[in-house]
Amino acid sequence: ATSKLLVNYPEQQRNEILDYLFKPYYGASLQILKVEIGGDSQSTDGSESSHMHAEDDEDYNRGYQWGIMKEAKKRNPSIKLYGLPWVFPGWLADDRKLNPYFNISSTVRYVVNWIKGAKVHHDLDINYIGLLRRTLNDNGLNDVKLVAPDAMNWSYVDELISDEELRSAVDIIGQHYPGGYSPDIARSLSKKLWASEDYSTVDDVIGSACWARVLSEGVVFGYLTSFIAWNMVSSYYEGLPYSRSSLMTANQPWSGHYEVNGPIFITAHHTHFYDVGWVYSPHGEGVGVLKGGGTFVTLTNPVSRDVTIVVETIVSFQNAFTIIRCFIKDCYCYNL
Ligand SMILES: *[C@@H]1O[C@H](CO)[C@@H](O)[C@H](O)[C@H]1NC(C)=O
Ligand SMILES: *[C@@H]1O[C@H](CO)[C@@H](O)[C@H](O)[C@H]1NC(C)=O
Repeated sequence: ATSKLLVNYPEQQRNEILDYLFKPYYGASLQILKVEIGGDSQSTDGSESSHMHAEDDEDYNRGYQWGIMKEAKKRNPSIKLYGLPWVFPGWLADDRKLNPYFNISSTVRYVVNWIKGAKVHHDLDINYIGLLRRTLNDNGLNDVKLVAPDAMNWSYVDELISDEELRSAVDIIGQHYPGGYSPDIARSLSKKLWASEDYSTVDDVIGSACWARVLSEGVVFGYLTSFIAWNMVSSYYEGLPYSRSSLMTANQPWSGHYEVNGPIFITAHHTHFYDVGWVYSPHGEGVGVLKGGGTFVTLTNPVSRDVTIVVETIVSFQNAFTIIRCFIKDCYCYNL
């Protein structure tokens, strides 16, 4: 719901904002876009219309995320798309409206319809989703990869270890707000580890420092290789929860005013210098801590052998502010 106001911007400013987010090597140059599947329910900063209001209803032109995915793809055809049903329409739930997995075949159909609708109605290939291996394969969607649990809970790894079918179904272990950490047991599974939701800090200088640390310390200490900022753009009214917890601010469509904030440029320090497909050294060489504080991460292009080193030297006084604000605002960006 955080990009709600973006569609209402005048065309010129909307295109400028979308360029700052998605145009390669320009602003943030984002490499992955995660969208919530509109679910007819309150979702922190608003609600988005579902593609299925009822069991026999389908419409793939509701909401605003299709448009944002298309604008992203138009600017960067190789951006990865990732969907997650975070809320569900009431018809999927049990009588007490608490369990959307009550009738699993209905929930599966609901999510698979969304992926197929993306392709049929918008020519969008979804790369990652939050569930459902067997049905995806049955529908010819073998290339859609699974990220799980996509929540804040490392004990899911125990289930992966004890359940072989689950383990082979899940491609990526996605954690929310991992705080630059992953347990040894998660690393032992030879699966990619992602911060599938992170950051959530006001987009000023402190938020920028926080995001810089998330992107580098997550690699050095957590062996994480993808970082999804919640959220991308503050296109929701000031005063709603987590105001400006974004990479940039665009919440005044009536005037066209917007602000390109620090986290856009922090992102650029990574995304302008390596692409999806570049690799870290398999044994952890090339990433580490600097003597005087800060970190460095090295990536190489496996084909051309080009090398990028990103150095981060966020000084300790910034850390103090970040930590204080995390206490006050209950943010999770930094592992105390
Ligand atoms: C799940 O929903 C489908 C479609 O309405 C229905 O045919 C099926 O019987 C339901 N299954 C259960 C276990 O309720
Ligand atoms: C964490 O995951 C485990 C295993 O999947 C589950 O049993 C537990 O309920 C989860 N905890 C929370 C708070 O969701």
